[in-house]
Amino acid sequence: MPHTSRRGFLALNSAAVLLPARLLAAVEARAPAAPRLDDWGKVRAQFRLSPRYIHLAGFYIASHPAPVRDAIEAFRTVLDESPFLTVERGMFEGQAQNVQRKVRDDVAAYLGGRENEIALTPNTTTGLALVYHGLRLKPGDEVLVTTHDHVVHHEAIRLSTQRNGASVRKFALFDDAASATADGIVDRVRQAIRPATRALGITWVHSSTGIKLPVRRIAQVVEEANKGRSEAERVLLVVDGVHGIGAAEESVAELGCDFFCAGAHKWIFGPRGTGIVWGKTPAWARLEPLVPSFSDVESYVAWKEDRLPRGPTNPNRVTPGGFLAYEHQWAMGAAFRMHQQMGRARVAARVRELNQRCKEGLAGIRGVTLRTPRDPALSAGITCFEVEGLKPDDVVERLLERRIIASTSPYAVSYARLSAGLMNTPEEVDQAVAAVRAIAKA
Ligand SMILES: Cc1ncc(COP(=O)(O)O)c(C=O)c1O
Repeated sequence: MPHTSRRGFLALNSAAVLLPARLLAAVEARAPAAPRLDDWGKVRAQFRLSPRYIHLAGFYIASHPAPVRDAIEAFRTVLDESPFLTVERGMFEGQAQNVQRKVRDDVAAYLGGRENEIALTPNTTTGLALVYHGLRLKPGDEVLVTTHDHVVHHEAIRLSTQRNGASVRKFALFDDAASATADGIVDRVRQAIRPATRALGITWVHSSTGIKLPVRRIAQVVEEANKGRSEAERVLLVVDGVHGIGAAEESVAELGCDFFCAGAHKWIFGPRGTGIVWGKTPAWARLEPLVPSFSDVESYVAWKEDRLPRGPTNPNRVTPGGFLAYEHQWAMGAAFRMHQQMGRARVAARVRELNQRCKEGLAGIRGVTLRTPRDPALSAGITCFEVEGLKPDDVVERLLERRIIASTSPYAVSYARLSAGLMNTPEEVDQAVAAVRAIAKA
């Protein structure tokens, strides 16, 4: 079924049908031109969020902005007009015109990496599962992970090591996020790595406390630990990057990690049910694919010839196959292009400005304890806090009564969270801070 090899199965005369090149051209012709995004008012106007609320939980799951809605609609139209030809031509007939390839090009341009380093997934969760289950671990090997990571990260490791007999060790990067330092975090990582460690899992921006880790410095520590190790024994640095991508300034390819897993349906504003894994080429070679692929020609040819696929594992081989909601996966590129157009540095500065305003405001309220570092170098777009005498759920409930949408962190120790993104204004942040002040006083 994958590219090129499938053509022989088709009895169609291609002159009469929608070729991928024409498919993309047809889709582009249907979608309105990219809007101007040179001020934050114009960016905010791309979202259809209900004006009845102040939305400060935007990082949870995206509201599709206009360029993404338009791309989904354009792909949906051609799929509904001719599902067979659109999928057959868009997926299986030649790399040059392949729509997934075009999506990976758009993602790579934003990440600062190469398209052949990217797997397409439905979300962060699947990406982490593909990485940890893909690792060729055996009894005696160890996966190291921090105590601060999301349930799906811990569970991906538990489920993988339960099968392969490797062990898991959890360690804390800090005792208290709000007073953590980059030096302290890096020291803890250095002390935690052991000879049996084969992978280290961390989260770029924590949804538990809002802390943003110094990933590049952690990667340097991992690199030092890897000196003298064989390729098979190197510690792979696996990052859950879902709350950093689209919110922080660093390019993913420069972070220094081996694997970077993220949903595109949070800060990137991609279609719901889309995500990526970016990985270095030697790291991909350390994985066994888990789900049959529709994106790797060699796997398909090998199957037809009843032999094993040749060559090292690559991201296409790890990209889960099976038919999908293609209008969503294919429209991912529009979200990454939108971010490219806005500029990583500009987006990160706006996210920083709004959330610094939120933190400073909350820090000045008696009875409110900020759980996120105030240092912008150690935080991004999530602000966690507690109100004396109130459970986090009650804080969120009282904010909702005031038409402010906040959330609680779904961890053993839970905090209330406010998160401002590109759909918000400084005035909205001020209103939320004023509401917390009123709640704390009551
Ligand atoms: C840190 C973190 N990782 C992973 C996830 C799961 O993301 P996804 O829905 O993309 O699987 C979440 C939240 O939903 C999260 O906060």
